[in-house]
Amino acid sequence: MGLPFGMALADKGQNVALYDINEATIGKVNDGIVPFKENGAEPVLKRVLKAKRLRATNDPSVIGQSKIVVTVIGTPVDEHLNPRVHDITRAIKEIEDQLRDDQLLIMRSTLYPGVTDKVQRYLKKRGKKTLVAFCPERIVEGHALTELYELPQIVAGCTPEATKRATALFKVLTDKVLVTKPKEAELAKLFTNTWRYINFAISNQFYMIAQAGGMDFYNIYDAMTTDYPRLKAFAKAGLAAGPCLFKDTMQLSAFSGNNFFLGHSAMLVNEGLPDFIVDGMQHKYDLSDKTVGVLGMAFKADKDDPRESLSYRLMKRLEVEADTVLCHDPFIKDPRFVSLDEITKRADIIVVATPHSEYRDLDWKGKKVVDMWNYYGNGGLI
Ligand SMILES: NC(=O)c1ccc[n+]([C@@H]2O[C@H](COP(=O)([O-])OP(=O)(O)OC[C@H]3O[C@@H](n4cnc5c(N)ncnc54)[C@H](O)[C@@H]3O)[C@@H](O)[C@H]2O)c1
Repeated sequence: MGLPFGMALADKGQNVALYDINEATIGKVNDGIVPFKENGAEPVLKRVLKAKRLRATNDPSVIGQSKIVVTVIGTPVDEHLNPRVHDITRAIKEIEDQLRDDQLLIMRSTLYPGVTDKVQRYLKKRGKKTLVAFCPERIVEGHALTELYELPQIVAGCTPEATKRATALFKVLTDKVLVTKPKEAELAKLFTNTWRYINFAISNQFYMIAQAGGMDFYNIYDAMTTDYPRLKAFAKAGLAAGPCLFKDTMQLSAFSGNNFFLGHSAMLVNEGLPDFIVDGMQHKYDLSDKTVGVLGMAFKADKDDPRESLSYRLMKRLEVEADTVLCHDPFIKDPRFVSLDEITKRADIIVVATPHSEYRDLDWKGKKVVDMWNYYGNGGLI
């Protein structure tokens, strides 16, 4: 998230230093290599490096030399699903000595409601007048370099001066700036991700109901959505995962005193889909002597990001139930994974876990294909 944001600003003429602690990533970025799949990013990176408007470094003194400091450190959830707000407060303490009174500190990644004000109070207590703002990132991975210019930016300063200076920065990218209070912006970001997570859960629950009743979910889906504008947001069924949606839904739950039944239900449905698939397969086929091929381990199609991917949950359940499990992903390097050729030769049953484009034209030669996404148009049947 930090790299595309820095590149977008640099491409609009700002001087950007990317401070990171990962030496390998720093080396790649300074060599013009984007370390993850991001559409159209490499030419932009090369351009801003050549113009000397961007560089990556592990030297923390760049923090003190900058007019504006942007952090992308998030709030993960712990093993009890509580938000770990200390990650951000610890990071602020780490850079505290570098922060100056005339600087603006922008926090960009999702925060538990109240954390922006807490950071501002902390800095004030330490005698710092650094301006503080929360401006949540809302891009989707892979499309950062179009969305950073197209999406409205939510800007929430702790003071009017912080809002004014943060607005001026984002106006470099877009004319569409929306101003809220920090806690409102923190909730706006959590509501956005949670809305998406619940929306996917509706589709997944309906899919399970249709499947359990022996029906073709996608026939029903088409009948419901064709030329029916009110169901435009009705997603297809499929594994709903990744580093943001689950975590942010649980943060919202913690914020609502753990009384967020809708959020927890969505979690049970989405996290339960791999189990539903494996149970369905077991019901239909005796898996104990079967080799199952799992296609796609990234959390999303055509991405190279395995973080919190439910394909791994599917793999682990299948490893218990099936004789052999063979996994493939075109973008993720993992010594456990095999080639598509090997899956084609050895697998008795194929499960489409992540519908990467590369799988589109494969000929499975009559093999059983479990396809919750309806990628091959078989109605999503197990
Ligand atoms: N990816 C998105 O589209 C997106 C959108 C909105 C919010 N977020 C949130 O933003 C946060 C970051 O997401 P990401 O996808 O960019 O993660 P990432 O892991 O790709 O990037 C984080 C970077 O921070 C570096 N880092 C970690 N600790 C550091 C420290 N103490 N000092 C300096 N650098 C440090 C890491 O080396 C890494 O390069 C997460 O909380 C995520 O939920 C992400």
